[in-house]
Amino acid sequence: MSRGGDWAAASTDHIMPAAGAAGSTEKLGQASPARKSRRTLWILLGLVLTVLVVAGAVVGGLVAKNVIRVGTRPAAESSSSSSSASSGSSDSGGAGTATSGSSPSSTGGSSASQATASSSATSASGPKPTEAACTKPSEIPSSAKGTWTDPTSWLDMTDFNCTFTDERVGGLPVVGLFSDWDDSARANPNVPPLNKPWGSYDDRPIRGVSLGGWLSLEPFITPSIFDGAVDEYSLCAKLGPKKAAATLEKHYATFVTEDDFKSIAAAGLDHVRIPFSYWAVAVYDDDPYVFGVSWRYLLRGIEWARKHGLRVKLDMHGLPGSQNGWNHSGRQGKVDWLAGPDGATNAKRSLDVHDRLSRFFAQDRYKNVLAFYGLANEPAMSLDQDALIDWTAQAYKIVRGNGVDAPQVFSEALRGLPAWAGKLTGYGDKLVIDVHEYTIFDVNLIKLAHADRVAFACKTFGNQIDTSMDPATGFGPTMVGEWSQADTDCTEYLNGVGNGARWDGTYSGMTSPACPTADKRCSCPKANADPSTYTSDYKRFLLTWAEAQMDTFEQSWGWFYWTWKTESAPLWSYQAGLAGKFLPPRAYQRSWSCSDSVPSFGSLPEFY
Ligand SMILES: *[C@@H]1O[C@H](CO)[C@@H](O)[C@H](O)[C@H]1NC(C)=O
Ligand SMILES: *[C@@H]1O[C@H](CO)[C@@H](O)[C@H](O)[C@H]1NC(C)=O
Repeated sequence: MSRGGDWAAASTDHIMPAAGAAGSTEKLGQASPARKSRRTLWILLGLVLTVLVVAGAVVGGLVAKNVIRVGTRPAAESSSSSSSASSGSSDSGGAGTATSGSSPSSTGGSSASQATASSSATSASGPKPTEAACTKPSEIPSSAKGTWTDPTSWLDMTDFNCTFTDERVGGLPVVGLFSDWDDSARANPNVPPLNKPWGSYDDRPIRGVSLGGWLSLEPFITPSIFDGAVDEYSLCAKLGPKKAAATLEKHYATFVTEDDFKSIAAAGLDHVRIPFSYWAVAVYDDDPYVFGVSWRYLLRGIEWARKHGLRVKLDMHGLPGSQNGWNHSGRQGKVDWLAGPDGATNAKRSLDVHDRLSRFFAQDRYKNVLAFYGLANEPAMSLDQDALIDWTAQAYKIVRGNGVDAPQVFSEALRGLPAWAGKLTGYGDKLVIDVHEYTIFDVNLIKLAHADRVAFACKTFGNQIDTSMDPATGFGPTMVGEWSQADTDCTEYLNGVGNGARWDGTYSGMTSPACPTADKRCSCPKANADPSTYTSDYKRFLLTWAEAQMDTFEQSWGWFYWTWKTESAPLWSYQAGLAGKFLPPRAYQRSWSCSDSVPSFGSLPEFY
């Protein structure tokens, strides 16, 4: 049963529920006298507005005859993203050249969004987006006042359209978006701008990074927020609705900013994977999650990706009931999705969430920037595979049926790529399997010596991928949706609060360290040392280990590093790797590949 915070349900009300405003379901038909007279006022106001809009459209139409370049930014502005990406000379021919294919839709979509899109497309050539007239608090309809669709209540207005609108697509609010968009940027000179086809991912792999811990929180990425809570659910429950909303909105507004997208493009990456969770668009029962606020940050993030020529993989990280019982699904503990007491209900809710999301993301404005649509991150290994296949097929049908053309992505669900040979066939290049490759959650792999770890990435990961990519032996289209440079499991909170680590043998149930030397010389405090203390031998290892993985994973449709930034886990942070020079400054310019021999790492000890 959906609580007040469900936009699809809310759209029949004229109440936009705020996070925590449970049961605010006043129906229009039950309006009080005061509301009725207010309504009369609104009708009058509506008439006046209609006259203004008609007049505006006429003027706009005249303007449009002289202004042909709708939907393109001035060259000077759009080239800034490429110049930021260039320190090498070959980088300078980047964004801002192509101009076609970026004009707002004039076909399809609802008539309401139609009118909005076309009338503003003409005006967009006049005032710049940042000059949009902001709706004043007194102008926000009472039904939206104080809710999360009320722009006058937003913490951060950067690059948000501050004009209130009630408009929705697929039941989801468009408020905050500018009507116009521009797909002419490209991430770097080696990849096409957004408005040109990428081509086959077999030939041109993804080089990407995830924005983990941003819209779906994770304790090891931002331990400072958690303060003892084990997951987003318990954090929100502990803080209560008001404080949770304030804390999370501050996090959304500050943890990832436009600068991050700019730096991601500058690092030679071309895709971003954006994890988010269902409470961006719905909450159920007594969910304590902050409803809706992450939605507009997701939309703004996509616009920033667009601005810097980055293609987006949407990644559904938390589904109702939790698809894996892990903290990054929102709620740690049990899986209540497909299986469990409410498993069937939550599976259905998940399909409903995908129904709305896919109607929204089928809009023309997402056709070029949305490269992949992820259905469910890491469903539990314990789930019945046939049930998972059935759910995936249903979700695929809904999303595709709603007009999302981007390939959809499903997880190998921690049962290994071979388990998917011959399953979910018949989708061609429109369904991709996602595998996450780590060597530290397994006592047999964590003990690999440095040179062996590099060789393992080239050979064993390589074989897994080759086998999976060939439809005769595996599923077919494959991507590596997560990997990192972690060579120990020592990162704080990675294994849970107070759970210890495999590396030094403090993990529950272990009697001796699983590090390569298997002795007391292995220490997590040492392994967690600050990157400024890394020796050049260790950095050479980390760089080689990363380049081995990149090289290997590019035999698939490509890769997404996990993750872009962390508070204190440098081997899980692309940003830290760039700063510490143990990742290549340009992902497409590398110094080592698997066809080279493994370099010497000097006197680098196998323990730390
Ligand atoms: C801002 O949003 C309003 C409401 O959706 C829209 O009509 C207007 O065109 C937008 N402004 C710009 C500059 O895109
Ligand atoms: C979060 O989940 C991961 C599993 O992905 C687990 O290893 C870790 O212990 C959990 N963190 C906390 C703080 O419980």
